[in-house]
Amino acid sequence: MDDKTSEKIFYITTPIYYVNDIPHIGHAYTTIACDTMSRYKRMKGFDVRFLTGTDEHGQKIQAAAEKQGITPQALVDKIHLNFKELWKVLNISNDDFIRTTEERHIRVVQSMFRKLMDQGDIYKGTYEGRYCVPCETYVPESSMGPGETCPDCGRPLTMMKEESYFFRGSKYVPQLIEHYERHPESILPRIRYNEVMSFLRGGVRDQSVSRTTLKWGIPVPGDEKHVVYVWFDALINYASALGWPDAPMFSSYWPSVRHMVGKDIIRFHCVIWPLMLLALGLPLPQTVVAHGWWTVDGEKMSKSKGNVVDPFKMVKDYGLDPFRYFLLREVPFGNDGDFSESALVGRINSDLANDLGNLLNRTLQMIESYRNGIVPAAMDNNAQNNLADNVLENVDKAMERFAYDEAMKEIWAFIGRANKYIDETMPWKLAKDTDKAAELDEVLMNLYEVLRLAALLVAPVMPQTAQRMWAQLGIEDDPLKELYSSFRWGDGAGAKIRKAEVLFPRIDVKEWQKAKEAGKTVKTEEKTMEHEPEIGIEEFKAVEMRVAQIVKAEEIPKSRKLYKLEVDLGYEKRTVCSGIKAFFTTEELAGKRVILVTNLKPAKLCGIESNGMILAASVKVDGNAESLTLVTPDGDIPLGSRVS
Ligand code: ME8
Ligand code: MG
Repeated sequence: MDDKTSEKIFYITTPIYYVNDIPHIGHAYTTIACDTMSRYKRMKGFDVRFLTGTDEHGQKIQAAAEKQGITPQALVDKIHLNFKELWKVLNISNDDFIRTTEERHIRVVQSMFRKLMDQGDIYKGTYEGRYCVPCETYVPESSMGPGETCPDCGRPLTMMKEESYFFRGSKYVPQLIEHYERHPESILPRIRYNEVMSFLRGGVRDQSVSRTTLKWGIPVPGDEKHVVYVWFDALINYASALGWPDAPMFSSYWPSVRHMVGKDIIRFHCVIWPLMLLALGLPLPQTVVAHGWWTVDGEKMSKSKGNVVDPFKMVKDYGLDPFRYFLLREVPFGNDGDFSESALVGRINSDLANDLGNLLNRTLQMIESYRNGIVPAAMDNNAQNNLADNVLENVDKAMERFAYDEAMKEIWAFIGRANKYIDETMPWKLAKDTDKAAELDEVLMNLYEVLRLAALLVAPVMPQTAQRMWAQLGIEDDPLKELYSSFRWGDGAGAKIRKAEVLFPRIDVKEWQKAKEAGKTVKTEEKTMEHEPEIGIEEFKAVEMRVAQIVKAEEIPKSRKLYKLEVDLGYEKRTVCSGIKAFFTTEELAGKRVILVTNLKPAKLCGIESNGMILAASVKVDGNAESLTLVTPDGDIPLGSRVS
């Protein structure tokens, strides 16, 4: 890929993530890949700008905020922090974090919208589509559920028509096709390029870019009954974060922009956004790179399946750098991948503990024993300098194609060769023969230099590991601030090593498996095994419990936990306050049959008298994320029946 810009400037972006989702390994993956590329380019001497952020407008946020009884702004102010916190934990070196609710962004969206309107590329028309009224959202044909239903709630869709602004993207399609024909390298990998080209050649209609059916969005300038469509709003973040149109940052970084995305949003980034840029007269992205999709143990990740992998937990259980390394090493970039903890454990043991960790250990041990911890010098380093250049060049070729896995294979081949070099040269034999002192010096020096360079090579993907390696190698400087070009074989001579803790402790697979099995059951048992003192049958009988039905559930405005329930016992109705708000919507509760403790003394909760208590079972997983289910009769039985 040739750089059209002569200066070494590199601007890279992640998608801005929807705040309504809990961050998972999918989001972690894209962001770690961008972080690794940013760090790599910085070490190549580039002036890098790395942007990430959050997408905060739209129907889902509005609905979630309404449900919680807070403003959408208050909601996003709170939940965007999940992402900021994760990026801190994952050691992400982003230079900026943009939120679409920020003034600097809103301003740019509105002036771009106005500019396009003024030049006739945005016009008013009517939008017609299938609409889910309860969810207040249009559903494209491609994502409809069976029988033209809403993919989210399953209810039938209705055809709807509304006034809408349209972006005249169609006008720029021929120009975009021509651009891609001249620059096939600007969409990676090739399979995505082909996908985009056939989509473009199939014809692209003008895009609806405003909505009148929701409020939580950026007002269309001059026509406030419309808000800007979320995607039109979101894509602009890449330019608003640089201060389009006239900030110096925009003119210096924009021409070097690279977008990294998942394959799910390739059309927005390779069709819609470039059409917008052409209309605005702005340079097109240098590259859009699309990676594949992670599944978990062979299944699609989803909240309902409960198999969403929590990156915070992975880092806690396996360490940050192993997690980062695994994600980028395991799957050829662009392909789909399957996440499994056992594969992660396998990589930790073989690549990290065995190959890299052992090389460091053995080398430091020998320098300690044979040379009192001082790195010896060697006579001639020419051949080795060539070797280093070679590795750097191969890694670079791979990184230029965003082939992280191949870059790492190169690095590990280099490490593997060094391990083999120890077996071949047998330094422990050389050490016994004083005539071989110079030879031993050379071997030790070479091994040391391999490690000094290996630390630099792994630094982009495993920054903390690089720092720990250099500390043990006795180097004062920070490897993350080094340039690859400044590496010279032999410069390490004279250093005093500082052997410390093992880099990557081996995981005993049998123990790990046992702990995994136990972890699953023990943790839930622990919780349910909070035993109470024994009671007699009389004491049990003193509790009167009956079958009841929830007629209605209502919010209590002041309470975060409680619902006010109206329950029917057949012979009478009662009001009960119940702390189950976090687990059910009011609609889910209406009609549910439950078991009610009927002879509890009335209690006043949030100003409401509660007459009884419904039974529920709850579970704690890992000390948090409580789940809860109601105890219900398993067959048909009249309301008011006694439970004993
Ligand atoms: O689409 N495997 O946000 P989003 C791999 N706000 N990557 C995954 C993944 C998985 N299973 N799940 C998510 C949006 N991702 C818009 C973007 S940009 C102007 C607006 C990653 O929160 C992947 O990068 O749904 C994907 O493209 C992105 O998260 C979607 O994030
Ligand atoms: Mg998504």
